[in-house]
Amino acid sequence: MSRDLLGKTALVTGASRGLGVHMALRLAEAGALVAVNYAVDEGAALETVRRIEAAGGQSFVIQAKLGGEAAARKLADELDAELVARTGSNRLDILVNNIGGGDYGSIKHADEAMYDQMFANNVRGPFFLTRALYDRIADFGRVINISSAGARLTDPNIIVYTMAKTAVEAFTRVLAQDLGPRGITVNSVAPGFTAGPTNDYIVRDPVQAQPVIDATALRRFGQPEDIADIVYFLASPQGRWVTAQHIDASGGFKL
Ligand SMILES: NC(=O)c1ccc[n+]([C@@H]2O[C@H](COP(=O)([O-])OP(=O)(O)OC[C@H]3O[C@@H](n4cnc5c(N)ncnc54)[C@H](OP(=O)(O)O)[C@@H]3O)[C@@H](O)[C@H]2O)c1
Repeated sequence: MSRDLLGKTALVTGASRGLGVHMALRLAEAGALVAVNYAVDEGAALETVRRIEAAGGQSFVIQAKLGGEAAARKLADELDAELVARTGSNRLDILVNNIGGGDYGSIKHADEAMYDQMFANNVRGPFFLTRALYDRIADFGRVINISSAGARLTDPNIIVYTMAKTAVEAFTRVLAQDLGPRGITVNSVAPGFTAGPTNDYIVRDPVQAQPVIDATALRRFGQPEDIADIVYFLASPQGRWVTAQHIDASGGFKL
């Protein structure tokens, strides 16, 4: 396994559970010092750190319930202190805006609370965190936003999620233009149905799983490692010439 991220620093938001765990593991495996962000479950975040260290990597946890400016500033201050203590500098090379997720609900069911929650996690979180870290992101660094194949679907049952993830893609394109002169690439990765805690109940139920498999060109659920490898590629030196792109990582879901 290539160690081409040795000497780099990374932050993965929402890395105590689900896809973020594997993104953190993959970046650490390549040599990056990885900050593992979580909202409430410190034990799970520490478990991510334990797995990274057991594999010979370096990592630490950083708590912040993201979604607005205050939490983002708090995270930035704590990240500064942790990075300076470990590396002598607050330079951040790789920012993975992973928190997000969505509930099912048509426009008739999507009330204000659901709408606000969806935009807080998928849009406000990445926006205000990137804003808080804007000057700390190193030249030739990386910003990777986790979107969803849902951004391109027209399923009425995920209308708010689709709206929110479409905003993430607009954010990605505009930010790529903004940060390009500093050599920083900005891309989004869009998983489809991926095995893990979010979709366990579907994966385990053949009646619900089969339609997903049938609608996927590669005829299986994604694995968290499938997504983590793309995040790693974008973060690696090999990804240096890719920016402002939306990379569908769904195995061809509902093409
Ligand atoms: N899973 C899929 O199949 C799939 C498909 C398409 C797109 N995606 C996208 O991939 C990303 C990850 O999805 P996932 O299914 O892996 O999510 P998940 O399992 O729900 O992951 C939740 C993680 O995010 C943290 N978190 C939640 N809200 C937070 C907040 N406000 N601030 C900081 N951390 C927060 C949680 O921390 P605590 O444990 O402390 O609560 C946990 O570490 C999301 O952007 C999602 O939209 C996922």
